[in-house]
Amino acid sequence: MTRAELPPLARPAVELYEGDCLELLARPEHRARQFELVYVDPPFNTERAHGARRGPGWRHEGPAAFHDAHGGLDAFLAYLEPRLVAAAARLAPGGSLWVHLDHRAVHEVKVLLDRALGRDAYRAEIIWVPGNGARRSAGPAVTHQTLLVYAPGAMLWNTDDPILREPYADRSLAIHFRKVDGDGRRYRERVAGGRTYRYYADTGRALGSVWTDCPAMGANTPFAREATGYPTQKPERLLERIVRGATRAGDAVLDPMCGSGTTLAVAARLGRPSLGIDASPLACSVARARLGLGAAPAPTAPRRVTRRARAS
Ligand SMILES: C[S@@+](CC[C@H](N)C(=O)[O-])C[C@H]1O[C@@H](n2cnc3c(N)ncnc32)[C@H](O)[C@@H]1O
Repeated sequence: MTRAELPPLARPAVELYEGDCLELLARPEHRARQFELVYVDPPFNTERAHGARRGPGWRHEGPAAFHDAHGGLDAFLAYLEPRLVAAAARLAPGGSLWVHLDHRAVHEVKVLLDRALGRDAYRAEIIWVPGNGARRSAGPAVTHQTLLVYAPGAMLWNTDDPILREPYADRSLAIHFRKVDGDGRRYRERVAGGRTYRYYADTGRALGSVWTDCPAMGANTPFAREATGYPTQKPERLLERIVRGATRAGDAVLDPMCGSGTTLAVAARLGRPSLGIDASPLACSVARARLGLGAAPAPTAPRRVTRRARAS
């Protein structure tokens, strides 16, 4: 069955593996697989361990979920590079790689990826503003994280999806959108190359590269619906924008460092099959519970759980 023939409400498969993504992606059963979206949210080189929440209301003082001390920036880059390259090698034609980092290593990783994937494959830099605020006395507080986007071929980007639109500025609406059509919709018209193009106020304009409307609070406030207590969990709205923007229903999604399973949960909800990997046993047990995958199987290598995810 081709992708176009898939029934729209088919329940997508979710696969979850525990282990090092470098080793797992090299296994014969994964080597030939391709994904339209690869999202990687690695450790940021914070030089510390990240603890999970012990329960609602607790700070992140529970068991260590993962260690993010690598012995310096060079060691961090040496650990990350082969894993990013292995993940990028699984891209399908039209697919894109999204690498989520912060100021600690994003600039070095950008240069590294330009070298590894080719400067022409670099598509965009998204500035994500989690909205938590920040404190820093040594200089300006850093209140954003960065997503580097690479696509070796022509990248799929569903620019007309409402999740990739934003309202026109009030001033622009007041000055330019003065006409109203028979349905009461405000619009403006522009002429280019001898053709007239109509733009409606209510469809908004294409979203830019600074994203401020996906607050982290949804994921890391103890009582939030989607919060799992896993440290560094990303909000579902952020992943929904990426998945809807960069894939079509039925396209495959890979998250080789999936943590609490945010990408997989969103992909399942949006009808995309997904493969997640995490080296942390705690991450895998949190993700399993979140995805309704049931208890971990007996610890024989490789540990694998696969099931039809609940479509919601
Ligand atoms: C920033 S967290 C990911 C959080 C995730 N996006 C979420 O929303 O929950 C980074 C994850 O990378 C995992 N990790 C680090 N090195 C890994 C490796 N070599 N293979 C697989 N997972 C790894 C860590 O265990 C951790 O869960």
